[in-house]
This record gives sequence, C-alpha cells and structure tokens, in this order.
Amino acid sequence: SLGVSRAATPAKMPSAVMDTLAESSAHGISRVATSRSRVMKVMWFLLFLLFLALFVRSAVTLVIRLRGGGLTKSFELDKVPFVFPDLYFCPNNPYSGSYPHDLSQADAELINTAITNLSAEFDSRLGPTRSIELRARLVQSSLPVHLSYRLLAQRRAQSVLQTTATPTMGPQSSFPIFPRVLPFSHPVSLVCFQLRLTDNDRRKIVAENWQVNLRLSTDPFFAEFNYSGLSVDPIRSPATGEEVPLQDWSISVGRERLQEAGFTMLIVPVGSYPSFAHEAKFQLAPSNSYSVALSMEETEYSEELRGQQCQGDSEAVDFSDHLTGRKLTFAYSPAACYYENLVRLVTQAYGCMVFSFPLTWSLRNTTRCFNMSETGRDQFNVVQTTKTNWSDLDRQVREACRSRQPCRYQRYSAEFSFSRWPSIGSSVVAHFAEMGSSPYSTPATRRLIDMARSLRTRNHSAHTEAQFRAYLSESLINVRIVARSTTSPQVVISPAYSVTAFLADTGGLLGLYVGCSLLTLCEFFELFYRLLSGALLKHRGGARPAEPEAPQGDSQPDAKNDTSEA
Ligand SMILES: *[C@@H]1O[C@H](CO)[C@@H](O)[C@H](O)[C@H]1NC(C)=O
Ligand SMILES: *[C@@H]1O[C@H](CO)[C@@H](O)[C@H](O)[C@H]1NC(C)=O
Ligand SMILES: *[C@@H]1O[C@H](CO)[C@@H](O)[C@H](O)[C@H]1NC(C)=O
Ligand SMILES: *[C@@H]1O[C@H](CO)[C@@H](O)[C@H](O)[C@H]1NC(C)=O
Ligand SMILES: *[C@@H]1O[C@H](CO)[C@@H](O)[C@H](O)[C@H]1NC(C)=O
Ligand SMILES: *[C@@H]1O[C@H](CO)[C@@H](O)[C@H](O)[C@H]1NC(C)=O
Ligand SMILES: *[C@@H]1O[C@H](CO)[C@@H](O)[C@H](O)[C@H]1NC(C)=O
Repeated sequence: SLGVSRAATPAKMPSAVMDTLAESSAHGISRVATSRSRVMKVMWFLLFLLFLALFVRSAVTLVIRLRGGGLTKSFELDKVPFVFPDLYFCPNNPYSGSYPHDLSQADAELINTAITNLSAEFDSRLGPTRSIELRARLVQSSLPVHLSYRLLAQRRAQSVLQTTATPTMGPQSSFPIFPRVLPFSHPVSLVCFQLRLTDNDRRKIVAENWQVNLRLSTDPFFAEFNYSGLSVDPIRSPATGEEVPLQDWSISVGRERLQEAGFTMLIVPVGSYPSFAHEAKFQLAPSNSYSVALSMEETEYSEELRGQQCQGDSEAVDFSDHLTGRKLTFAYSPAACYYENLVRLVTQAYGCMVFSFPLTWSLRNTTRCFNMSETGRDQFNVVQTTKTNWSDLDRQVREACRSRQPCRYQRYSAEFSFSRWPSIGSSVVAHFAEMGSSPYSTPATRRLIDMARSLRTRNHSAHTEAQFRAYLSESLINVRIVARSTTSPQVVISPAYSVTAFLADTGGLLGLYVGCSLLTLCEFFELFYRLLSGALLKHRGGARPAEPEAPQGDSQPDAKNDTSEA
C-alpha cells in the first residue's frame, strides 16, 4: 500500500514501481499503471481503494473470529476400538459382618483397646456429652488404618465368591479365564475390589465377545450364625450410655442405622484412579442378577489445542496408597487435578484435610482434621469456627483444572437389566451343601455350608431355613458384564475457527476484492528489493562515480527518462 499511495503522483514515481504495478497480478492496480487516460487511472485507483477497504473490513471480522478462540465438537461413530475398562467393586458398608465377630483373643484386645483409648481421647478433647454420631465418626477416623483394614474391613475371600470370563455364545470349547480380584485400599470406602485383567484378556473379551461373570456377597452381619470368636466392642458414650455397634458404623457420618447393602461398581478407564466423583458408577443391590453392557466414548483434543486446552496424554500421576502410604502410579485423569487442587485449597482454609480425599504423592503428608492421632486439641475449634464457601471452592478447583483436561480420555457408560436372583430352592441348598469347605474357610460361607447341610438332611428347625433364605437374599449379587460393541464413537474437540480456515477465508476475500494472492505479495517483495538495491546503487554511485558493475544498470536511464518527461 506504500507503493500505491505514491502512485497518486505517478510522474514522480520510480519506474520500477510503475513496472511492478503494470505487471501486477492484482487486477485493478495494474490498470492504474497502464491506462492511458488520467481519468481512467484515477478511477481504477479509487476502485482499488474501495475494494481494499471492503476487504479490510471483512478481514477484521475474520481476525476477531480467530482470536475469539471458540471450540467445536465433531462426532464420529465407530471411530476407535472399544477398550475394556478397569472395574472396581466397592462395598457400600465396608465393615465386614463376619470377620470382626470371629476375632482371636489378641486381635480383639488390640482393636478394643484402640477404641477405648480413642473414646477416652474424645472425652478429654470435646467432653463426654457430645453427640454419639460425632464420637463414632472421630473414633473411626482415628483408628489406625492398618487395624481397620485387617480386622474390620470386608475381605476378598468372603466378598468375591467367583470370577470367570466365558464365551457368550458359539462353541463353548474355549477355556474360561479366571481374572484375579485384588483388594484396593480406598480412602472413601476403606476397601474396594479390583478386577485385574491382562491386555490379552481385555482383547479377548471384546474381540471374541466374552462375558465377565462375578458373584459377590455383601457379607452382612447375622447374629444367628453363632460366630465362635470374640467381637469388636461398640463405640460407647460413658455419659449417656448410648452405643453404636459395628453394624451401624459409617466412615462418613459416624452412625447410620439403615445402611443400604450392596456394591458400587466403578467403571474406570484403564490405568486411571478409581474416583467416585469422576468415573462412571452404578449400584448393585443384593438378591439381583445384573446384565451390564458397557459402552465407551473417546474425546480427543485436536493438535492445535494441545498444551493450552489440555494436558499431554502420556503424563502419569502418583497417588499415595491409603493403607501403606506407598506410591501408586496412575494414568493422568481429571480426578488427579481435581483432588490435588481441592486438597490444597481445603488445607489452606482449615490447616488440615476435612474429608477423606485421595491424596496425590506431593500432598501425601497432609494431616486429616478428624484424625485425633494427627491433629492437636485446638484443631477442632479451628474446624468448627472456620466458614468455607464450598461452592466457591469447587468453582475455583474446576477453574484451575479447566485447561488441564487430558488430551485424550475415555468415558464409559453402562446399560443394564436385572432380575431377582437366586431363586432359593433345593438346587441352592444342594449347591452350598456340596461346596467343599476347605477353600471357603471364610466365617460366613463356612456357616452357610453348615446350614445347607442340615437343611439337606432335613434335621433342622423352620427358623434355620428362614435364616438361610434371609442370608442369601441379603447378600448375593450376580453380575454379567459384556462389551456392547467392538468399536466406539470419538468426539474431536477443535478450535471453532482454525488457522487454516482463516487463511482460506482471507485468501478467498483477497481474490474476490483485489484479485490478489500470496504470489502478488511476492511481487511486492521483489519491488522492495529492486527499490532498495536501486537506492544503494545511487548512494554508492555518488561516492564513487565510476562503478562498473551495476546489476540494475538498465533501470537508471529509464528513471532519468521519466523525470525528464515531467
Ligand atoms: C491405650 O492406652 C494405654 C494406656 O493409656 C496404652 O498403654 C496403650 O498402648 C494404648 N493402646 C492403643 C492401641 O492405643
Ligand atoms: C490417623 O492417624 C494415624 C497417625 O498418623 C494413622 O496411623 C492412622 O492410620 C490414621 N487413621 C485414619 C483413619 O486416617
Ligand atoms: C446358634 O445358637 C443358637 C442358640 O445358641 C441355636 O439355637 C442355633 O441353632 C444355632 N445356629 C446355628 C446355625 O448353629
Ligand atoms: C513427608 O514425610 C516424609 C517422612 O516424614 C518425608 O520424608 C517427606 O519428605 C515428606 N514429603 C513431603 C512432600 O513433605
Ligand atoms: C459462595 O460463593 C458464590 C460465588 O462463588 C456466591 O454466589 C455465594 O453467594 C457464596 N455463598 C456464601 C454463603 O457466601
Ligand atoms: C440332628 O441335629 C441334632 C442337633 O441339632 C443332632 O444331635 C443329631 O445327631 C442330628 N441328626 C442327624 C440325623 O444328623
Ligand atoms: C526516453 O526519452 C526519449 C526522448 O527523450 C524518448 O524518445 C523515449 O521514447 C523515452 N523512452 C521511454 C521508455 O519513455
């Protein structure tokens, strides 16, 4: 445009500019140079300016759109293969109904002294008249985790009765696989059971349409089971004489009389932290048989957004194991950022962590407010007097994590149907009566087998039969899990207006309004080069008139010719 403004006085212009304009591939401007009549020159020049202005106006809108940075989602069906997720089964009531009633002398002494000591600690801190719920909560939050875990929590052997993966249909010749189930200490639910699958198992389950079958038991407390060992004492208030027996203990609220039996099934992308707040989950209630079909949806951020809208997907994150305090490595997931920021903010507000949140490795030494072994006497006053706007806190955490989404993540959903199960008839009695008791040395199953045997020989009271039925319908859950499809949809999040689209649109407008292209720009670069080298030459020519070598020699007589004409 510098050259163009000079074109208003063509007579004074160096001919190099004139040449460039005349040869320019931008349509209007070449006419300015080549038209014979002055009127035409002016007209073409004005037209050129008009369309240039129109172009600039449209280009500004495009630039605003590009800088606005909106996002768009595109959805493609059957784009990525379905990956069978990690499955965690977390009991709603983590306290076992059988093990803590079958304790050895030494174990019973250990746990009961701890309860008595903590209850005394509560009295000295808050006074003996405080509510029994608070007492129950603080005692449970202060018990050494390894003691609760070993003596009170549900155990795999009693809770997970059977796990197999079998072909759904076709020839049943393929051998079933027996995936391992391992306990996982979870800060929210004390213990969960994790289904361990190898990559090969996952592939087989999806590609060959296998199903995973689990038989779970909620391990409820049954007084009639006549457990032979010693029991855990209730949490007792010395002032009022109120008691909370183990069956009513609740980690989150202290005491809960009407607890919902069952399991929460967490469906977690492979390798991610099993977070109750972030991953797909649903409830499994006893005396039902569930048929679950899993679907997956993958979300991916486009290349342009990596690093600004999302985190690299290869990143791993370390959590601290709730039981052992050891480092556990998980794939990066939204839960990692959420808990890291939440724990940091809550600790800032209270000086300790109010709830039992999962801890990332860098925050592993955070103290827990309700753990009387970790916090001082005055800590409770701080917790009780501090007012925190939780919705504001949550908003801050979400804000901090908005740009730290993983660049690629999977979300799972489950469709399910269920029916009553088992129908308790003679076949169930036979099933338990014929179970060898050696691998079922767990307290509740052992007693169930005894009951079934007496039912079978018909040497029993009516009461025993009622108990047998009641126990089964309060404890057993059957789950059958399949992949809904071998492929899954993918959602790609990309900038609503990409740089490529911006270039295409600008190019289109440039072509439409002034007939210009990138090559036209190159012509102007050439012009600048020629003007520059011309000026240099003149300068040097002044200093040393006899300069033999002149690359632009023929342009000088032209220039003189122009000036003399004026
Ligand atoms: C309970 O308190 C007694 C004495 O106060 C102490 O000797 C014992 O080690 C404590 N036990 C536990 C499990 O804290
Ligand atoms: C409470 O704190 C003590 C001491 O750090 C620890 O041993 C125990 O496991 C904690 N209990 C819970 C439930 O966090
Ligand atoms: C448990 O003990 C009671 C009385 O002590 C007895 O009536 C009942 O049959 C016993 N139940 C079992 C399953 O042994
Ligand atoms: C946590 O505590 C351990 C042992 O007390 C210490 O070695 C470690 O450096 C601490 N970590 C952090 C992040 O403070
Ligand atoms: C909490 O913060 C939100 C804004 O983040 C505000 O709208 C709300 O009124 C606050 N609540 C209280 C009780 O201060
Ligand atoms: C039936 O049970 C009683 C005790 O409950 C036992 O003494 C008796 O031997 C049993 N009879 C048979 C046939 O098992
Ligand atoms: C240069 O000037 C001469 C006369 O001064 C004229 O004959 C010639 O046509 C001019 N050349 C150009 C390119 O204008």
